[in-house]
Amino acid sequence: MKKNCLEIVRQKCENCNGCALANSRSNIVFGDGDASTARIVLIGEAPGEMEDETGRPFVGKAGQLLNDFLAEAGISRDKDLYVINTVKCRPPENRVPTDEEKAACRKFLDAQIDIIKPDAIVLCGATALKSFVNLDKKQTISKVRGKWMTVTVDGVDYKAITIFHPSYLLRNSSMEEGSPRRLMQEDLKNIKETILPDVNNVFSANNLTFNSLASV
Ligand code: URA
Repeated sequence: MKKNCLEIVRQKCENCNGCALANSRSNIVFGDGDASTARIVLIGEAPGEMEDETGRPFVGKAGQLLNDFLAEAGISRDKDLYVINTVKCRPPENRVPTDEEKAACRKFLDAQIDIIKPDAIVLCGATALKSFVNLDKKQTISKVRGKWMTVTVDGVDYKAITIFHPSYLLRNSSMEEGSPRRLMQEDLKNIKETILPDVNNVFSANNLTFNSLASV
């Protein structure tokens, strides 16, 4: 059902000429993941060159690094996540999408969230964050990341959290305590434990044992 609804939205997106990015795209990059199992929607910034070529989000260098961090945290990109961007077409020279471009694409993003109704939204990087939160001057992604908040889409409240964008981590390779990569690990661990707790851990955390579970 979710997949059918997403397909209808995807076809509309395929024919969209809502902003100038439509003129230079090779492919729209609609979204990726199993909508029937995904409990998290992860929102990045915009497609890059490889994404434009393949029509899939996060398949370039940044995407590979994201995949590595997700795998390490025990989050399955294929099963647990549905991955989208603030805009579906590649901005020229990989520039940040403008407010007008984001606004033109917003109906697709909102429809995807509304169809999937995830347990959590992960805002990956400052562009995704600013699409949902009006930051005051003192708030930076470094201060906001890792904190659970609520965002509202089409009148529905969703649990949301911000993480660093993997492109930022490509430029910061330190693994020292407090480094961006270490904070990324902490944030993904937090997401995994909060949204996708391991059944066995939940039982042991609550000191519960169920004999019937031993045989399943
Ligand atoms: N960066 C993004 O934000 N999204 C992609 O799909 C690829 C790189």
